[in-house]
Amino acid sequence: MAILVTGGAGYIGSVTVERLRASDEQVVVLDDLTRGHRAAIDKDVPFYHGRVGDRALLARLLTEHKIDACVHFAALAYVGESVAEPKKYYENNVEQGVALFSSLLEAGVRHVVFSSTCATYGVPQQVPIPETCPQWPVNPYGWSKLFIERILASYDGAYGLKFVALRYFNAAGATAKRGEHHEPESHLVPNVLAAALGERKHVSVFGAEYPTLDGTAIRDYVHVVDLADAHILALAHLRKGGGSDFLNLGTGEGYSVLQVIECARKVTAAPIPARMEAPRPGDPPRLVADSAKAQRVLGWKPTQSDLASILRSQWEWRKKFPHGYGPTESVELEEA
Ligand SMILES: NC(=O)c1ccc[n+]([C@@H]2O[C@H](COP(=O)([O-])OP(=O)(O)OC[C@H]3O[C@@H](n4cnc5c(N)ncnc54)[C@H](O)[C@@H]3O)[C@@H](O)[C@H]2O)c1
Repeated sequence: MAILVTGGAGYIGSVTVERLRASDEQVVVLDDLTRGHRAAIDKDVPFYHGRVGDRALLARLLTEHKIDACVHFAALAYVGESVAEPKKYYENNVEQGVALFSSLLEAGVRHVVFSSTCATYGVPQQVPIPETCPQWPVNPYGWSKLFIERILASYDGAYGLKFVALRYFNAAGATAKRGEHHEPESHLVPNVLAAALGERKHVSVFGAEYPTLDGTAIRDYVHVVDLADAHILALAHLRKGGGSDFLNLGTGEGYSVLQVIECARKVTAAPIPARMEAPRPGDPPRLVADSAKAQRVLGWKPTQSDLASILRSQWEWRKKFPHGYGPTESVELEEA
């Protein structure tokens, strides 16, 4: 049986495909390449270029391969863009997600691992954040993910669709072959390293007066390989009959923006100038996970997520692939 990975040409998806294949799983990738890279997927992996909401394409894919589970990464994931263009987010992330689940149910696929996010908590009432913390997102991106969580819960009740919704905190880092390449890039780690390479004049630090140790916002950075491995554990959990669940994936350690920049200066030996900017509306001061439940339910424990290792891995990848995966290709979508 094979695993369908939607969004497998994206950052976390492509690393998860790499890790799944290393554990001898058959994988099929579906991606529309709006934000991903064909080059991130090895040529011998069956690849479908299309949208998760394309019912005809999904019907074809699901007859051409024996799929028993789906890892659903495919989504648009820029917070600012979601505020400016919410329609795009609800259509792509929610409407197409619902169509994907209909296709899976029709084909008898009953196992889904879903990429959720700490953005579903909004400004949390409690930090470290447990899964029981009330969820009230502060942007359409977070809402689009929370809607899918709710839809999955009701599909379990009605149709027996078993799922694990993994609420990632901040993914970062790289493997020897695959790393983070977004255009535009909104994440701190790749932008700090771009400044180290001189591709950016400085790193923007949004907000310097938060109630934190140095006034800058604190986030919980998880190595992308640790995240990928949590998906493998979640699939094993579902395959052996485990129940649906919502699990945080973070380290429980938070680092401020200035601490990340300082650590990157040590790793890269580059000056990395920082420029203070106004805080972004809706940016919480501190987002740190309580991941005890993921450890209890899946036996997941991050092993590569200390900040210096994360930065070193992404730095090595950037030096080896100075242009990332190269320019984003414009390829025609597949006909069903
Ligand atoms: N990167 C993070 O720190 C982080 C944190 C929390 C949650 N997440 C979630 O994890 C997932 C992966 O994140 P990422 O950083 O790898 O993002 P990414 O943009 O690199 O990957 C997403 C992939 O999905 C594809 N895609 C988008 N909409 C599609 C559609 N309708 N049909 C087919 N393909 C589609 C894109 O082309 C891209 O390759 C996303 O769902 C994101 O919301 C990411």
